Amino acid sequence: MKILLLIALICSFRTVSMSPLKYDSIFSFGDSLADTGNFLLSGALTFPVIAQLPYGSTFFGHPTGRCSDGRLVIDFIAEAFGLPYVPPYLALAKGQKFKHGANFAVAGATALDAKFYYDQKISILWTNDSLSVQLGWFKKLKSTLCTTKQECDNYFKRSLFLVGEIGGNDYNYAYFLGGSIKQLKAVVPLVVESISAATAMLIEEGAVDLVVPGNFPIGCSPVYLTLFHSVNKGDYDKNGCLKAYNAFSKYHNAQLKLALEKLRQKFPHTRIIYADYYGAAKPLVHTPHHHGFYNGVLNACCGGGGPYNFNNSARCGHTGSKACMDPSAYANWDGIHLTEAAYRYIAMSLINGPFTSPPLTTSTLE
Ligand SMILES: *[C@@H]1O[C@H](CO)[C@@H](O)[C@H](O)[C@H]1NC(C)=O
Repeated sequence: MKILLLIALICSFRTVSMSPLKYDSIFSFGDSLADTGNFLLSGALTFPVIAQLPYGSTFFGHPTGRCSDGRLVIDFIAEAFGLPYVPPYLALAKGQKFKHGANFAVAGATALDAKFYYDQKISILWTNDSLSVQLGWFKKLKSTLCTTKQECDNYFKRSLFLVGEIGGNDYNYAYFLGGSIKQLKAVVPLVVESISAATAMLIEEGAVDLVVPGNFPIGCSPVYLTLFHSVNKGDYDKNGCLKAYNAFSKYHNAQLKLALEKLRQKFPHTRIIYADYYGAAKPLVHTPHHHGFYNGVLNACCGGGGPYNFNNSARCGHTGSKACMDPSAYANWDGIHLTEAAYRYIAMSLINGPFTSPPLTTSTLE
């Protein structure tokens, strides 16, 4: 009898430690890698291309405002925790319920405020809904979710906060306008400080479990490969990616990791998880065929031609572009964003390890 009980106990402990964490809600901030509809709802553009097929063609069967053919990393994380897809905050007016959290991410958003760019005469921003605007939305929503500090702490203790990816656009806008790597390196500490300050603010509002992603290897993305094409073979690594731009992503990520380590020391009761998007994406570039990406990873599924199927004057969804037959055989969707298949692969590497540290699948809540 005792032995049976012991076995039962061991088994139950096992299930506890193996099962994913229990969260009641997810709150998300960021840009097009996480936006599930805010950019469309914000009305920033009159005829945004993401409002049309082929965007959304794979899973939802219709455009949702996601910058992909289907689901994003955040969607796979929601699925893994048994939660509904995180609704875009700007759908609130339409009577959407936010019991299970809200997504504040906006395609095109920057970590630094829009004013920073307008002051430098950079006025090509898709949206002004930067990270601090998104935090403002969160504070507004918070007042409808809980009132006392105790009540809010109890609520957010059971929430997962995704702080990014954010910051990629801060660099994209500047690079696309001709900024040099050296100039952009000087902006990294500002971007990292903004992400770190947002994380700290959320902790002060009651967040305990937070995931902060780094950047992808931008030197492997069709848009960078096309715009910064080089005749010098030495500029490319063995996978065909631009070395200097990948090194830039690593530089950002290293600084972000240092900043997160400081936050962990300052807030020892929290769980600040770094999500290594760069590391999770790397196997796709190294061995695409092993992961089902038979058409490689450096060329987009949907585009208007060129060596990487990215043509700035015929981007995916515009006249002159077309989508591939099987997006799941491609890692890149439209030259800038990934396919659902690639996001699934990356999300699984984050959820099942080893690209989250500390790991996403053990929790303070156990
Ligand atoms: C962002 O703000 C600037 C300056 O106030 C304004 O000119 C611009 O139209 C805004 N952009 C968007 C997309 O709302």
